[in-house]
Amino acid sequence: MRVLAFDTASTQLALAAGTVDGCSVTLDASFDAEAPRKANQVLLERAGKVLEDAGYGVSELDAIVVGRGPGSFTGVRIGVATAKGLACGLGVPLHGVSTLDAVAWRVWRAGVRGEIGIVADAMRKEVYPVRFALTDAGVERLEVDTVAKPADTARAWAEAGRPLTLYGDGLKKHAACFDDALFTLGDEALWLPDGEGLLQAYVADIAAGRQDSGNPAELLPVYTRLSDAEENERKRLKLSAEELPKSGVAEQRAVGGLFLHPMSINDVDAVAKLQQRALPLDAWTSGKLADEIGRDDRSWWVARKDGDVIGCAGGQVVDGELCIFIICVDPAERAQGVGTRLIERVATDGRALGAETVTLEVRTDNATAIAFYHGLGLEDVGVRPRYYKGKDDALIMRGMLPLHISSRESGGSMRISSPDSPASAVAGAHAPFILAIESSCDETAASVIDGDRTVLSDTIASQIDFHSRFGGVVPEIASRKHTEAIVPTVMYTMEQAGLTWSDLSAVAVTLGPGLVGALVVGVAFAKGLCFATGLPLVCVNHLEGHLYANRYVDPTLEPPFVALLVSGGHTMLVHVKAWGDYEVMGSTLDDAVGEAFDKVAKALGLGYPGGPIISRYAKDGDPKAIKFPRAMLHSGDLKFSLSGLKTAVVTYIHNQNQKDAPVDIPDLAASFQAAVVDVLVAKTLTACKETGSKVLCIGGGVAANPALREQLSRELGKRGIRVIMPELSDCTDNASMIASAALDLYHEGIFGSLSDDPQAHLPLRTRG
Ligand code: KG4
Ligand code: ZN
Repeated sequence: MRVLAFDTASTQLALAAGTVDGCSVTLDASFDAEAPRKANQVLLERAGKVLEDAGYGVSELDAIVVGRGPGSFTGVRIGVATAKGLACGLGVPLHGVSTLDAVAWRVWRAGVRGEIGIVADAMRKEVYPVRFALTDAGVERLEVDTVAKPADTARAWAEAGRPLTLYGDGLKKHAACFDDALFTLGDEALWLPDGEGLLQAYVADIAAGRQDSGNPAELLPVYTRLSDAEENERKRLKLSAEELPKSGVAEQRAVGGLFLHPMSINDVDAVAKLQQRALPLDAWTSGKLADEIGRDDRSWWVARKDGDVIGCAGGQVVDGELCIFIICVDPAERAQGVGTRLIERVATDGRALGAETVTLEVRTDNATAIAFYHGLGLEDVGVRPRYYKGKDDALIMRGMLPLHISSRESGGSMRISSPDSPASAVAGAHAPFILAIESSCDETAASVIDGDRTVLSDTIASQIDFHSRFGGVVPEIASRKHTEAIVPTVMYTMEQAGLTWSDLSAVAVTLGPGLVGALVVGVAFAKGLCFATGLPLVCVNHLEGHLYANRYVDPTLEPPFVALLVSGGHTMLVHVKAWGDYEVMGSTLDDAVGEAFDKVAKALGLGYPGGPIISRYAKDGDPKAIKFPRAMLHSGDLKFSLSGLKTAVVTYIHNQNQKDAPVDIPDLAASFQAAVVDVLVAKTLTACKETGSKVLCIGGGVAANPALREQLSRELGKRGIRVIMPELSDCTDNASMIASAALDLYHEGIFGSLSDDPQAHLPLRTRG
């Protein structure tokens, strides 16, 4: 068995190719060198050289092994996401090993015996400490991964009373903490992991029967810390670390074509329809469901199979009790554990929100459901006569959290083989076929299009509900969720398109702008996939993607035109002279428009994302009720400034509170929105006049705002300017827009390379 192993969890790039025979391994080639912050640039090129030295090609590999840390979060993610892409591309298993085990094996190989302590640098004045016993038979780990203050580790190890030789890059900063007579500093040349150590750790896991499933979807980094936002929440809710749902800890998201995700506004219509079909007497309306989103005491989850909504569950936490509103599974999809998985997700959220018990009502004659709830540990506690609309009695059931759910029911393994049905799902689809991946913010998205820009599949795994309780996107949670979702999202998208890797012409990915820790996951995965399959890589600017979303509305659209790009991170007017030839005419000096919406919603405690919530309230408000400033309206240029408006809104709320006067949320929302829209429309008109443009395109999340769309159409329409607007769902982040931009890059022969690194501030500029 030929194996490629690598680790990027520390400053070291550790790489090796080896041949595994049972529980032993022969090293065929390796490369170990420090490459701080360069892992994404050098990993695959170096891997290529190692394979060359080993004398076999990437397609001859039988497995990939990757270091799961603990280590630098971004470093580990680069290794793990690259490995996922490689393993998926090759259709081989992916195994994880501990980075610290690899260090221990390196020390062992140098002939050291006895007890050693490895102290890896965890930054922020902390370390990852683990003790190992090294004997002639091999390496035995004596404790699990944790993160700790170096002084606490030194104290605990000294109390154990046994001599220890210390290794690990944490000693560079913290050696002085370990000044007990029991401790000796080991050879500094052995402080970091190496490729051969990874291979040895891997076969040691096989020998000990500790091997993981090999499923690239399931492998995740070792996390010993929560994100800061969760850590603060934990303190606020006084939860112990175990009680909190850790982002980044295995969550079996995709089993077969089944995919669970929190309900977003995009799902409410389909969920309402499902409830109508499956539980007509208890069905909620779309409006009522939409109203649930963003509330921080609620949890709603949706199950999709092959893209269709087949189940949903929702509940609310009241005084420490999770009240389940509804659990609903399509009649055709019952008895497959979908209901169990949905209720499990809601129950996990409920616990995070402080619930200890769970309660629900069920019709007394619904024996199947009652038996199901008994199985989860719920008991009958009473009956509510004639509770339901149809006048049926309700049985009240109650139980403790967590629910009794066996791991088999909640987990299961995902199909990871690449789809082997030939040709495309869409009749007449033809090459080039482009797979695009987008992970710049809080959605993991993938899409496949064909040479005519026909969308063969389009998947979005939204994380919004993981962030909404924090009032904004938490970058560390976003990165962890991308790492979890990337494999199911891409594999599902390929399955939906009915294509195999060999049908593809290129793999495209968003290179920037966006959150670096989020971008890194998509970019590393895409590069791993390209390395494995030999497909060319196309790197796309996220903003260019938003522009290209307009081509789906009007396939004949041709520049020149003006585009207004308004999202959570950007506010700009662009003169599109030709596809690929851009001039940014003006942009914001401070906050982006979407950001302003988000901040106002946060100030009102309305949840995240703010745009849809504010615009929903604004519908019922009077846009003239409150006078807010229209910043830079008459500045004579195309620059925007939104922070003053945001401050004016926050001040207004504060003043009302001081006076004990009510804040009329619809009026406030409508007045704020009107101030934003007035400026956007006026400047857009100026841009069209300056360029003589007769066409305007829009893009970005805020382009979904109904008032903006309406006012642009009206005001520009009056002046004979045609306004092109992507469908609502194409305004927010998605991957088909990235694919569309990539198709042109592909035709122009503009390709990325395996050393490309994400760029948080990638500017929109003329390509080529
Ligand atoms: O393009 P996008 O999905 O992500 C970025 O690239 O930033 O845009 C997200 C932004 C968020 O700030 C969200 O509040 C805003 O778009 N947004 C809206 C609306 N829908 C989403 N803003 C105003 N009105 C809306 N209906
Ligand atoms: Zn965007």
